[in-house]
Amino acid sequence: MSHNELEKMFIRWAGVAMVALAVVSATWVFADELAALHSRTLADKTRTGGQTTVYVTNKHAFGRSAANMPLARQRDFSFGNRLFNTNWVTAPASVQSLDGLGPLFNRASCSGCHTRDGRGRPPMSPDEAMVSMLVRLSMLDDAGQAVPHPMYGSQLNDRAIVGVPAEGRASLRWEPVAGKFDDGQPYELHRTVISFVDMGYGAMDEDVMFSPRVAPQVFGLGLLEAIPDAAILAKVDADDADGDGISGRANYVLDEARGEIALGRFGWKSNQPTLRQQITGAFLGDIGITTSMFPRENVVAAQTAANESAHGGEPELSNEFLDKIEFYMRMLAPPAARGLEKPVVQRGEAMFFAANCHTCHTPEFQTGHHPEKELAYQTIRPFTDLLLHDMGEGLADHRPDGLADGREWRTPPLWGLGLVPVVNRHSFYLHDGRARNLEEAVLWHGGEGQASADAYRAMSKADREALIAFLKAI
Ligand code: HEC
Ligand code: HEC
Repeated sequence: MSHNELEKMFIRWAGVAMVALAVVSATWVFADELAALHSRTLADKTRTGGQTTVYVTNKHAFGRSAANMPLARQRDFSFGNRLFNTNWVTAPASVQSLDGLGPLFNRASCSGCHTRDGRGRPPMSPDEAMVSMLVRLSMLDDAGQAVPHPMYGSQLNDRAIVGVPAEGRASLRWEPVAGKFDDGQPYELHRTVISFVDMGYGAMDEDVMFSPRVAPQVFGLGLLEAIPDAAILAKVDADDADGDGISGRANYVLDEARGEIALGRFGWKSNQPTLRQQITGAFLGDIGITTSMFPRENVVAAQTAANESAHGGEPELSNEFLDKIEFYMRMLAPPAARGLEKPVVQRGEAMFFAANCHTCHTPEFQTGHHPEKELAYQTIRPFTDLLLHDMGEGLADHRPDGLADGREWRTPPLWGLGLVPVVNRHSFYLHDGRARNLEEAVLWHGGEGQASADAYRAMSKADREALIAFLKAI
């Protein structure tokens, strides 16, 4: 063997050894991380929001301020709460600071959709209006770029002030989808079918891209905002380098305040980078209230009557009020976990890890620096990685949003989900509320989540029940 060949062989072996070492150490780090998670005490696991955690299990479970917030700040929190529950009225009105509704809108208040800071639901029949969900819209332009619909914009507004035509209505019905557990027991899911009716500004285009979304519960978001970018990005595995079938991509969207692209965290596709922008976006898109961040009404030029209607100030919401509602949203704390000591819940936790649910629903994060110091440096248990995952054809909306494609969704946090029936008196889950309970939500997982759903279908009935008991507890 020549010196040259020896050298090549050495380089090859060194390469193999390095890859092997990397795999071993990656597995070791992973095993270490898992071991650390398992070593948490029940008390640690119960404190979902670290020191902010609130111990409330009634219908106000999503509406409490962080437990570590000093009493002196309660006034601001209560004022923010009032703004969140305010029914905005048409301008001009006697209370000038609370007018400016519309001209086009979906609901007159934030709490109209996020009732008791909780979760919306789909309509129960095709004739029922959407009361706590909305439909996002877009079209492809000549260059193949997704742009707002030329007439209906990026969200269908099904209501309008007097004298202005509403945009129309998205009618929702369900179609059955049959399935079977591995033990032979059949089940039936249903998928969402949307049609556009009573259109006020011309028929909806055949090739419109649309995305029906329910209003998610809104507690714990300040803590999610306080997770350092680096901690989220550390979980990105865009090309699935570790070969576990799960990639995880970051969404990047325009941060209006800084005028630069930033990591998306909020919304069903991580389509908003900060709570402030999520809030101002909601004021404009859902209620028709302008802010310093979005000073122009959400109306296209051809919507003449809407353009000619009165305004409630420029902007309609002052920065002072915006600060208060942002503070309120940041301080809404996650409810503590419940019943983690029960054997069935502990079995369910083991099933959760066995089915690899934790690869996307990351159990634990440490928050970093945050302007609200109550939220900084907390150990939290949100069960989300805040990243985008391809969830397969069944859940696809075929509407890109930022860098998210038509099959990708942000892993939603699982904390507090078991209290949705208490707070909102329903148990509809997933982005369009098609799952009638937690089990159906799991069964819908496809794409990167397919293997987890398959693992669930393969479990014994008792193990499946244990896993659901765990989801209800966290
Ligand atoms: C018409 C119903 C509706 C109204 C009214 C509404 N929202 Fe929402 N909200 C939603 C939907 C739907 C989403 C998910 C949006 C998405 O995925 O793009 C959402 C998302 C959010 C989120 C992010 C939640 C998360 O987990 O990422 C916050 C915060 C929020 N809304 C606050 C508000 C505030 C503040 C108001 C009042 C100014 C408001 N919303 C009014 C439906 C509504
Ligand atoms: C590949 C990443 C991934 C894996 C693995 C995964 N999930 Fe999910 N999960 C998601 C995403 C993304 C959604 C949102 C999908 C949607 O709304 O269309 C979701 C939604 C859910 C929901 C509904 C949440 C809500 O707010 O509506 C539940 C419950 C859930 N997952 C539980 C589980 C369980 C239990 C497992 C393991 C058996 C699991 N998930 C595995 C990514 C994942």
